[in-house]
Amino acid sequence: MSEMGPQPLHPIEKKILKALASVDQADLEELARLSGLSIDQIRRGVEWLRAKQLITVKESENEVFSLGEYGARAIKIGLPERRLVNRVKKSGGTEEIAAVSRELGEEFAVALGLAKKNGWLRVEGGKLYPGKEYENREPEEDVLEKIAGEKEVARTELSPEELGAINTLKKRHEDFIKETKEKTIEIALTPKGRSTSKTTVLDEIDEITSDILRNGAWKERPLREIDVSSPAPTVHPGRTHPMRLFMDEVRETFLSQGFEEIFGPMSQSALWNFDALFIPQQHPAREMQDTFYISKLKAKLNGYADEIRAIKGVHESGADTGSRGWQYPWGVDEASRVVLRTHTTAVTISYLAEKKPEEAKVFSVGRVFRNEKPNYKHNPEFYQIEGVMVGAKLNVRNLIYVITKFYSKLGFHEIKFWPTFFPYTEPSFQTMAFRKETGRWMELGGMGPFRPEVTLPLGIKNPVLAWGLSLDRLVMLRYHVDDIRQLFGPNIGWLRKLKVS
Ligand code: PHE
Repeated sequence: MSEMGPQPLHPIEKKILKALASVDQADLEELARLSGLSIDQIRRGVEWLRAKQLITVKESENEVFSLGEYGARAIKIGLPERRLVNRVKKSGGTEEIAAVSRELGEEFAVALGLAKKNGWLRVEGGKLYPGKEYENREPEEDVLEKIAGEKEVARTELSPEELGAINTLKKRHEDFIKETKEKTIEIALTPKGRSTSKTTVLDEIDEITSDILRNGAWKERPLREIDVSSPAPTVHPGRTHPMRLFMDEVRETFLSQGFEEIFGPMSQSALWNFDALFIPQQHPAREMQDTFYISKLKAKLNGYADEIRAIKGVHESGADTGSRGWQYPWGVDEASRVVLRTHTTAVTISYLAEKKPEEAKVFSVGRVFRNEKPNYKHNPEFYQIEGVMVGAKLNVRNLIYVITKFYSKLGFHEIKFWPTFFPYTEPSFQTMAFRKETGRWMELGGMGPFRPEVTLPLGIKNPVLAWGLSLDRLVMLRYHVDDIRQLFGPNIGWLRKLKVS
């Protein structure tokens, strides 16, 4: 904070300083009244101003007197001694002690004692006689009046005589006057606060409104300085999940390379998920422990009679593809079972079956399901980035080029291609990425040209280059996540803190 200029002040602080400039001191309620702020705002502002040494806050405890039950009665009908004297006087002469005593009850003895002591009454032979005039008010009566008039009087506002009278009353009966302790706060300007209150700071414009712009007030009055370094509360607005953001990035990458996005359902017939991909019906991947089947549902497979006949042919004998097939009797029943797609290749293949393109560049991004035990790199559901290129002149080099380009556009440069096996591609590759954290290569996905056993039954003559890549593992690499389950869990702390690029 600079020593020269005045410190920046919050609007609340300014209102409090303004209010204090007009009085010597005030408590919280008075400040609220003077400034129009709420007690809460006053409390906060007072703390800030105290920290800036612009005000002092003195807290003290005060004794406060108010009327008790006896005191209130004395105000209404007089102190017992005055009532006693008046009573004797009014009856015009003598009065039986016993009768009066009955009337005045427990107050009688003290009243009589005082009346005798002051010579207002005489006692003779069991009777009371009037004595000296009793005109002047007693100090006790005065102090009761004063308290009654103000409801509450602080000890500091009473003279020694008045305090003496209060003591006398208290000795006579504890119910004349009640004494309570009250906390008070005195807030006052320090010299620095006083000088600040005289500067133009208090006239500053806190908020620029259209009025202030229109009437030109901004030219006359200074604008409030804002301390941009003061801490502000952290806000956690809703934000897009990093997986979603990454998916969009993947989409943009393919779109920018001239691909079109295709979509397909998460539940698929086994025909598209397995059979059309030349995966034999006894293949272990089809077992329940690997694949989620939807029981009681059968796919209709309408409109694909020719393709189904051809698929049966290649499975059983290879038909005219030059292959011997798998040499088993193929059944349409197995093909019409419904599965949660185990790979997005099902989307690609049903697209090919429907469109039979001579040329195509398409991709899809979607969730897939596998019945496997979750661990740090496996989850029963995950995402794949799938795609194909169809064209007369395409070969494996084109595939490697497009995939390398795809990864490097996303910032992954250390990728290698490795031979592997899939029943539907030949040759088959997998991509691997090097993970610095573990010092190991991690599998990212598979690819290859579809075999004729896959393309010919669908009526496609041109080469088809296909791939299916893991999206989750790329997200893990990008954000240094070492457990895939974190991407699917409600890990709010991580999601809030993650800086997405
Ligand atoms: N479907 C394969 C997988 O899920 C990936 C792949 C797609 C392989 C297309 C080759 C061709 O791992």
